[in-house]
Amino acid sequence: MLVHIPNVLTADELREVRTIIEAEAWIDGKATAGDQAATAKFNLQITEGSPAGMKAGDIILKALGRNPTFNSAALPFRVLPPLFNRYDAGMKFDSHVDGAIRMIPHTGIRMRADVSSTLFLTEPSDYDGGELVIDDSYGSHSVKLPAGDMVVYPATSLHNVTPITRGSRWSSFFWTQSMVKDDGKRTMLYDLDLAIIEVRRRLGDHESASVALVSHYHNLLRRWAEL
Ligand code: NI
Repeated sequence: MLVHIPNVLTADELREVRTIIEAEAWIDGKATAGDQAATAKFNLQITEGSPAGMKAGDIILKALGRNPTFNSAALPFRVLPPLFNRYDAGMKFDSHVDGAIRMIPHTGIRMRADVSSTLFLTEPSDYDGGELVIDDSYGSHSVKLPAGDMVVYPATSLHNVTPITRGSRWSSFFWTQSMVKDDGKRTMLYDLDLAIIEVRRRLGDHESASVALVSHYHNLLRRWAEL
């Protein structure tokens, strides 16, 4: 399931994040890639766990906390502190799958990456190329979103970033361990949640159909969630 979430960051938050990471040193992105992905990856990153990266990441984590779509689509249990990457002209990331297990910096805690997220920090007019292409059972999806928007997709997906031919593309990316690791179950819960929102809007919260559907949602989540 691919979900486009508009306006995850406000204009002020976007500016703040950009200002923090613009002042940072950028290193070769191969630092956080596994063996196979390292041979496919040609970009720049901020050092994982650096104070500036953590500060900018906290702004994003706070924004995620108030975002109902992210919480419904990802059902987050743990969110890895956001990382930041940059693709200048000629840079790209060939097809790969993200690593399954990540270490949360400074904690010794490992987490499973179930959901991948990319939050765009540059306007599409500022660069050419640089599409995030995600493959799923319905084919390839090319994603290029306004600054402040985010795409959420299963970490099991093959994906790539096409070469930049002009300008520079900045983004934040991070992984979520979901309470529901199976993408099919997570998709069903998300679709059900959207239907419930619509039913509640039309019928109100106290109609028996609304109450029954909300109960069903929670009982499915109780059955499937792993904490
Ligand atoms: Ni990736």
